[in-house]
Amino acid sequence: MFVLAHLSDLHLASLPRISNLVGKRGLGFVNWQRKRKFIHRRDVLDAITHDLSAQAPDHIAVTGDLVNLSLPAEYTQAKQWLQTLGDPSDVTIVPGNHDAYVGTAARSPAAFWGDYMRGDDGIERFPFIRRRGNVALIALSTAVPTGPFMATGRLGQRQLASFANALEQTRGNFRVVLIHHPPKSPPRRFLRRLTDAASFRGVLAEGGAELVLHGHDHRRSFTWLQGPEGGKIPVVGVPSASARARHGDEDRAGYHLFRIDRAGDAWRCEMIARERAVDGTIRE
Ligand SMILES: [Fe+2]
Repeated sequence: MFVLAHLSDLHLASLPRISNLVGKRGLGFVNWQRKRKFIHRRDVLDAITHDLSAQAPDHIAVTGDLVNLSLPAEYTQAKQWLQTLGDPSDVTIVPGNHDAYVGTAARSPAAFWGDYMRGDDGIERFPFIRRRGNVALIALSTAVPTGPFMATGRLGQRQLASFANALEQTRGNFRVVLIHHPPKSPPRRFLRRLTDAASFRGVLAEGGAELVLHGHDHRRSFTWLQGPEGGKIPVVGVPSASARARHGDEDRAGYHLFRIDRAGDAWRCEMIARERAVDGTIRE
């Protein structure tokens, strides 16, 4: 039995300097001050983290948007939080759009969190593979800087080709694909979609995977994608780990546990959703 925990979208924020507030960061800061700071709260994240640690999972996956405006102080804060979560070999990160919010921050996730974003071969690039028992984690990056009012992500041709190879290399393992953006978005989220999602789904339809985990939507979701030979691939989205309450179609804070086991010729995977109740306690 292998227990994998999944959480996402902490949006750890810090106060920017005035000089930081040009362009997209300025707009993001206004949005944060008006709305988001009342939703994403550090005390909520700490309660979730505490509950998760008590579950003692074998491994933890964090699917992006650890920070808010890609400010240096935010990366440092996120790194300190990561250190409380576990050793870099037990925690795997993929970055989200807020982790590369502006072009000048594109390299910052690797600079601050590189140890959590490296494969077993020690090389720093996406996709990377981490094997833990008979589970293979395949980590992708969709984090690309975008213009104002955009929150799209992109994998790109090079990464998609390597992803196909990674699925092939890890065949026979329980393959868990980690990605920030969901592989399918409704039309109303056009400006927040994964732009090459169709190609991503095409690679999965050919290569197959046992589970796809994503964040970005701040809501619990469960869908299926087409796999090879008529098979289906489960896709699970997790709420933000710091959301104080429901907000529009976003869920309050929660995280997921996946209990993965081999049963004869087949895999068995049980999902447990834990969330923050109205009274502030974290429960199943
Ligand atoms: Fe996101």
